[in-house]
Amino acid sequence: MPIIAPSFLASNFLRLEEECNMVNNSEAEWFHLDVMDGRFVPNISFGLPVIEHIRKATTKICDVHLMIEEPGKYAADFRKAGADNLCVHIEACPNLHRNIQQIKELGMKAGVALNPHTPVHLLVDILHEIDLVNLMSVNPGFGGQKFIPYTLEKIKQVRRMIDERGLNVHIEIDGGVTFDNAASIVAAGADVLVAGSTVFNSKDPVGAIAKLKSL
Ligand code: DX5
Ligand code: ZN
Repeated sequence: MPIIAPSFLASNFLRLEEECNMVNNSEAEWFHLDVMDGRFVPNISFGLPVIEHIRKATTKICDVHLMIEEPGKYAADFRKAGADNLCVHIEACPNLHRNIQQIKELGMKAGVALNPHTPVHLLVDILHEIDLVNLMSVNPGFGGQKFIPYTLEKIKQVRRMIDERGLNVHIEIDGGVTFDNAASIVAAGADVLVAGSTVFNSKDPVGAIAKLKSL
C-alpha cells in the first residue's frame, strides 16, 4: 500500500491546526509541505514559520518540497523548522551532489524532484545517494491541476533504475493524483502519493486518504 502525503497547499490555512489533526487521525504517514519562492515557480506559498508551527502539531514525517532557487542557502533553516525529508529540484541545482550531501549531513532524508519535461536519466549518477525521487506529474506552482499521463512512463523507468541497482529509494508522485489514477500510478511503481485537492477538497478527508491508500 502506498504512503499517502496530503499536500497542505490545499488545506484551509485559517484552520491549520484542525487540518493537522485531521491528517494526524488519518492513515496518511507524511505531511507534504510545498514551499514556493515566486522565482523557481510562478507562485509563492508558505515558508519557515508556518512549517515550524506544523511541526509542533504532528509527530508524522514532514516532507518538505522546495520549489525554490538556491535551496542550499536554506537547508539548515528547514532542518531547524522541523523538516524530516527535504526535496530540491534538479532544475534549480547546478551543484546537486553538494546539496544532497548537505541535506544528509543535516540529518534529513534527501529528495530530488523532476519537472514533467526533465528526463529521468539525469538521475543515473545521483540515484544511489538519495532517499526519494519526486516525479512532478503537473508543472509545479499550483494545486488542482490535471495529471500528465506520460508520468506513468517516467515512473516505470525510475522503478527499473532503482530495482536494477538494488536501491531503496521512494518514488513520490506529485500533482493531479485522484481516485481515478491512483491505482495506475502505484501499479507503475510509485510508493508515495501526494494529494492536495483530492484530500482537502473532500467532504470526508480522512475517508479520502483511506480510499487513496486502498485503491
Ligand atoms: C504543486 C505542488 C503539489 C500540489 C499538489 O506545485 O508541488 O504538491 O500541492 O496538489 P494537487 O494534489 O491538488 O494537484
Ligand atoms: Zn509538492
